Amino acid sequence: MTNAEAYDRGFAQLSSHTVGPLLVRACAPRLLDVGCGTGVVTAAALALGAEVTAVDADPGMLELIARRHPYARVRQATLPELPFEDEQFDAIAGNFIINHVSDTAGALKELHRVLRPGGAIALTWWKSDEMTATSVFAEAIAAAGVPCELPARPFEDDPGRFTALLAAAGFAHAAVETMRWRHQVDLTSWWTNVVQTAGPRFAVIGRQPPDVVARIKDHYTRLAAPYACEGFPVCAYLAHATR
Ligand SMILES: C[S@@+](CC[C@H](N)C(=O)[O-])C[C@H]1O[C@@H](n2cnc3c(N)ncnc32)[C@H](O)[C@@H]1O
Repeated sequence: MTNAEAYDRGFAQLSSHTVGPLLVRACAPRLLDVGCGTGVVTAAALALGAEVTAVDADPGMLELIARRHPYARVRQATLPELPFEDEQFDAIAGNFIINHVSDTAGALKELHRVLRPGGAIALTWWKSDEMTATSVFAEAIAAAGVPCELPARPFEDDPGRFTALLAAAGFAHAAVETMRWRHQVDLTSWWTNVVQTAGPRFAVIGRQPPDVVARIKDHYTRLAAPYACEGFPVCAYLAHATR
């Protein structure tokens, strides 16, 4: 199983929850799905009749999405730079991408550049202190005594900060909604998919020797057990604005 396939079986099931609200805020004929991953937004936008351009930094994600969605225009691109002319898109949707970009201000400026005047943008990210589906991994790593520095974004738990960043990039009518739900998942599959995705936060697990991985997994099993029936409580922010 490739990292992209593991992402698709694990995280994409979690991130798909926000696709509907995201596209309510930003879906128009020429849509940019930025940080498309394996295509949860692209799939829904194509079904709504949009002409979708899907970009991602990871060739593995792009290979999977291109195979699955031959009617999307798939391009490799890494924010804060995009290989597009000014004002090319009517709408931009970015599901859990902005929290992966270190230069938030630069990325928002670039997204503003490629959006047409009057176009809509919608971006989601996790509220890190209510994100039990992943915090159990961070806690398990710490409990096993493995050093792990998780990158934090300055706006992550501060929506006001993010609306200020959107305004500074030139967007108008910026607002943020909060979404809470429970991620119900088989705990063993969730472990396997998160570890095999080897994303920036938890790739550290796969780099450990087998006995340490087993120790982290034991802690994960203990910490995740209370969520087995009702699921992990999770929380995301959805920011939207117009150009
Ligand atoms: C959490 S995934 C979200 C994928 C998809 N939007 C979804 O909802 O399932 C983040 C995606 O952003 C991509 N990514 C990370 N940093 C990026 C950057 N600077 N520019 C473009 N894509 C990036 C990753 O490769 C990954 O596919």
